This record gives sequence, structure tokens and C-alpha cells, in this order.
Amino acid sequence: MDARIALATPLSQRRPDDFARDMIAGLSKTPKEISCKYFYDAEGSRLFEAICDLPEYYPTRTETALLKTHAEEIAALIGPEAEIVEFGAGALAKVRLLLDALDRPRGYTPIDISGDYLMEVTRQLAADYPALALNPLAADFTLKLAIPAMPGARRRAGFFPGSTIGNFRPDGAAALLRQMRASLNGGGLLIGVDLVKDPARLHAAYNDPAGITAAFNRHLLLRANRELGANFDPQAFAHYAPYNVALHRVEMYLVSLKRQAVTLAGRRFEFAAGEPVHTEDSHKYTPDGFREMAARAGFAPRAMWRDADGLFSLHWLESA
Ligand code: AVJ
Repeated sequence: MDARIALATPLSQRRPDDFARDMIAGLSKTPKEISCKYFYDAEGSRLFEAICDLPEYYPTRTETALLKTHAEEIAALIGPEAEIVEFGAGALAKVRLLLDALDRPRGYTPIDISGDYLMEVTRQLAADYPALALNPLAADFTLKLAIPAMPGARRRAGFFPGSTIGNFRPDGAAALLRQMRASLNGGGLLIGVDLVKDPARLHAAYNDPAGITAAFNRHLLLRANRELGANFDPQAFAHYAPYNVALHRVEMYLVSLKRQAVTLAGRRFEFAAGEPVHTEDSHKYTPDGFREMAARAGFAPRAMWRDADGLFSLHWLESA
């Protein structure tokens, strides 16, 4: 085992009952909801990686191509001897493109809510980057985090790819960017943002015929069964993911296919036939709309890259 890797969990976040508490709170609301952060245990993170490989799910491959094409320009903007802090790091695949282009990167702090998965992928990365200091943090990146500085690093840069920012409503997204700016100690942020486009294209990306996105959605119920002793029948809930054109977002739901009751942590929850459980929003932006929001959060938008079809954007934001 690599001596560089000690998985840290911020003390403020050692609360294993969050999932139970949040499930009870979310299912007690009208309409019912489950926070999308609970998709990402080890199994859910693997299901998300399978989504990234789907032909209909264009964001991952489009953003990866942008990173490859513009790696040198991005590396020059970030500068030499930098440390990278990645928010919601997932499989640690995209950061490799960045690390390979950077001039003597000193450190990497991947932050992810799934500690098991983070540990597994950090071990693999460590083997490929023997000179890199690593500081994996098992944490919810939306909560305020003190991120320790890496010795020898001359600057810090944030990395927030995948359009994860789209999971937040515009006000929450601006607040999150503001908080990230504070934790970057004056460093910039490289962020991936999915763009508004033909609704049919968006619809297809979240409604794959192979049913992987549906399995990802239903995984929340299986996770509740396993971890909270709930008794959801996942097949009694439909995956439904329409694009809301007025609000520029794909909304994801689990819809109860019949009148049913479920017990969870000793409580009983009733579902009417056709009742939705809201599980995710995925907001899409115009380039200007995103830059305006970044400016509201105290960032100066300095550069943007887009694919030829205008599907996806990568932004370099500096602390204003
Ligand atoms: C990881 C949040 C960016 O919103 O596109 C993919 C998650 N949900 N398919 C997205 C997701 C359904 C994804 N993000």
C-alpha cells in the first residue's frame, strides 16, 4: 500500500446517520425527494461510470476531448508547481489529462463523498504518479472544508468537471462557487458546464434504452434497503427524466407505479399511485448565463472552450 495515501474524513462530517436522517426528511416532504448526493456509494459511482460510456451520454466524452485538445493552454493558465483540488472527483480519470499537461504538479486533493471508491481509485492513480503528493478527502464538498496546503505547491487550482454544478439550483450553485473560491486561497477554478441544446438530445442522454440511467436512479432504493433496512421494491418505481424547458434542467424522478407503503428505519411511508420522488436536477446553461453566475460568485471568467457542436463548455475562472 502506498504510504502517501491516508484517507481523511473531516471530523465535522463523521455522521454515518446522514443518509437515514435525510431519507426520512426527504420522504416526509410533499413532493417527496432524495438528495442526489446519495447516488454515489461505491456501487452508484460504478453505475455512473457506466452512464459515462453510453453513446447517448455526450458530456463525459465531449469534456474529455476538450481537456485533451486544450491541455497545454489550460496548463499554462494554471501555472507550474500547482496543487489541484478536485470537487466530486469520481473515477479520477479526467484529472490525469490535466496532471499530464501541467508543469511539475506538486499535489492533488480529490474530494469525494464515497470514501471506499475514492480509496480504490486513488490507489490506482498513485501507482501512475509516483512524485505526486496525494490527500484524498472523503467528504461532502458542499460543506465548508479546510483543505490543508500541500508542501512545496506554489498555487492552488480547483477542478470541478462533469457539470456537477448542474445539480444545484442557480442560487445554490452561485453560493457553492463562492464557497469554493474561498477554499482555493486565491487560485482559479477549471469547471465543466453542460450547455442548453435541442431538448431531444438532452432527453436521450438521461433516458438511455439500455436502462443504465434507470438502474442508477433505482440504486437509491436498493441502497436504502441495504443500509437502512428499508423494503423498497425498485421495480414498483419508474425512472422518469423529462427536460424542463422553462427551467433549463433535466429533472429525474422515481414514480410510484402503484399505491404502496414502505418501511424505512422503523417508519412507514405511503406512496400514492403515480406519486413522484424527485431525485435529481441537472441544469443546463448558456455560456453567458454561466459566466454571469460565476461573476456573481466573485470569479472573473477568463477563458472558455467549447466543442464544435456547442454541446459542452469548460471555463477557467480566476478569483476576481
Ligand atoms: C454527474 C451530476 C453531472 O447530471 O448529468 C447522469 C449525473 N444523472 N445521468 C448529470 C447523471 C443521470 C450527472 N452529473
